[in-house]
Amino acid sequence: MDQIVYNDYIDKDRIAAQAGRDFDISERIFIVTGAAQGLGYGICEALAAMGAKICMADVNIRGVRDAAKLLARDYMTDVIGVEADVTDEGSVRDMVLKAVKRFGGLDVIVSCAGVLKAGGLPDLSKEDFERVGAVNYTGFFLCAKYASAVMKAQRALDKDRMHDIIEINSKSGLEGSKANFAYAGSKFGGIGLTQSFALELAPFGIKVNAICPGNLFDGPLWSDPERGLFKQYLDAGKAPGAKTAADVRAFYEAKAPLGRGCRVDDIVRAVKYVVEQQYETGQAVPVTGGQVMLR
Ligand SMILES: NC(=O)c1ccc[n+]([C@@H]2O[C@H](COP(=O)([O-])OP(=O)(O)OC[C@H]3O[C@@H](n4cnc5c(N)ncnc54)[C@H](O)[C@@H]3O)[C@@H](O)[C@H]2O)c1
Repeated sequence: MDQIVYNDYIDKDRIAAQAGRDFDISERIFIVTGAAQGLGYGICEALAAMGAKICMADVNIRGVRDAAKLLARDYMTDVIGVEADVTDEGSVRDMVLKAVKRFGGLDVIVSCAGVLKAGGLPDLSKEDFERVGAVNYTGFFLCAKYASAVMKAQRALDKDRMHDIIEINSKSGLEGSKANFAYAGSKFGGIGLTQSFALELAPFGIKVNAICPGNLFDGPLWSDPERGLFKQYLDAGKAPGAKTAADVRAFYEAKAPLGRGCRVDDIVRAVKYVVEQQYETGQAVPVTGGQVMLR
């Protein structure tokens, strides 16, 4: 059904013009969720600098529209900002439709929208637990569901064409996280979805991979004074002996063998790798400065 709806808007000339050759990021159409701020915004900025067409999506409608205007102006590339709540099926379906209508297709979706609520078993409410799962886990499912419908339709026009579904996961999807189980559970689940979608979608040339960042200390997720992780982790007692946000930062920085936090440009390199490579799917790519080592 959705494939038929999306089909009407797919630019068949674009698919034909790209058939049989390698095409780079500048010729691709992206959706990035959670794009109003933080890592999602940073990924969009890097993609805009490379000349990609981008549908920036976020539940924060004002933030995402302003962000899209800024990038369209600064990089003179085709960027739109759309309202989307990744926990709402109709909203995700419309987000994909808006991107396909505007740009004539969809090549890569980066499922980056995510929330974190720290807290141990005595403290975390069922409501907060379910909210984290709804955004981080269910949201990724819905993005993959509707994005893959477009990708399959494009593949039907060019049997060699490849597409990408990328989940921005976390190092907390690779090992447990003390007093942070709602988040870690949702991210572990994301790896299960990544592997399972990869198996289901490989016959359609859709690669599905997760990127697992370490801690991005400079973004709002950590540094927001009210709800940021420095404050949440201080309150939850996750950094032993920490009395200030600076103590929490020092505690976490010391955990990465490469001696610093993760940066947006580290993740952009991983996104570029995942998209450009043609022979890997169902993987979790760690970008943690050595903090998490795969077995
Ligand atoms: N910042 C880090 O240290 C870090 C580390 C590892 C992984 N990650 C992951 O990277 C992703 C982005 O994190 P960030 O640091 O940029 O966070 P952030 O809080 O700065 O940004 C998250 C964005 O997602 C949006 N969002 C929240 N709920 C949404 C929903 N239901 N629908 C659509 N958009 C929604 C927010 O409005 C916000 O713009 C998340 O998936 C997070 O788990 C972050």
